[in-house]
Amino acid sequence: MKKPFRESFTIHDNNIFINSIKMNISQELEKYISDHMSPEGELLEDLRRQTYLKTPYPNMISGPLQGKFLELLSKMLKSERILEIGTFTGYSAICLASGLVEGGTLDTIDSNDETYEMAAEYFKRAGMESRIHQIRGDALEIMKGLERHYDLIFIDGEKREYTAYYQLAIELLKKGGIILADNVLWGGKVVDEKEKNDPATAGIIAFNKHVVEDKRVELVMLPVRDGLSIIRKL
Ligand SMILES: C[S@@+](CC[C@H](N)C(=O)[O-])C[C@H]1O[C@@H](n2cnc3c(N)ncnc32)[C@H](O)[C@@H]1O
Repeated sequence: MKKPFRESFTIHDNNIFINSIKMNISQELEKYISDHMSPEGELLEDLRRQTYLKTPYPNMISGPLQGKFLELLSKMLKSERILEIGTFTGYSAICLASGLVEGGTLDTIDSNDETYEMAAEYFKRAGMESRIHQIRGDALEIMKGLERHYDLIFIDGEKREYTAYYQLAIELLKKGGIILADNVLWGGKVVDEKEKNDPATAGIIAFNKHVVEDKRVELVMLPVRDGLSIIRKL
């Protein structure tokens, strides 16, 4: 039997900032935030635990803080059509799909076959198998064949490809629609001179520059978790 990547994973009250760049937030304050948010829920907690046990890079998962943020934003936008680039084990897709209006759908793309079945299992357990359409393959190829009518697009794929995803996503988005881009601070490396030639860091830096110079959008960059940009198409 394949040995799990980590032998055990305990969910502490204060681990909502998984993969965060900490932002001088004390453990006490983290716990306070966690204690004053709606709970994650059993299914997502289980999905998170299984992701830590069964996948090699579990900290790619959005986690409770960002997950709840995605869910509430999706609800506020009353989304009918959502596109996600980077399904992984399905955590963020479930959060985003929880905000869909009746009859709404979420398309989620991932090129990794190894996490496809796990995500599918949790979409089923969440009762979302008819609302979430899983698409296997390279997002840059698949996006070229999609129709242009999304309310919300979540970019959370390969960091070197962010600008290319964005250029396709902006065309697929309705006027007034929102693009969310994860990891835009990339662990703080975006301001570290030593890291600027690292391909992933360079990808994020180029993306952030491209978006802020794009006159078709307005945006805010939030220091939530690893940095999240909310970009609105004018
Ligand atoms: C950070 S993880 C996504 C995490 C997920 N959104 C969540 O919050 O749980 C990034 C995912 O993007 C996928 N990916 C990377 N490059 C891709 C590409 N060109 N096309 C499709 N998926 C890609 C990877 O296989 C990986 O599962």
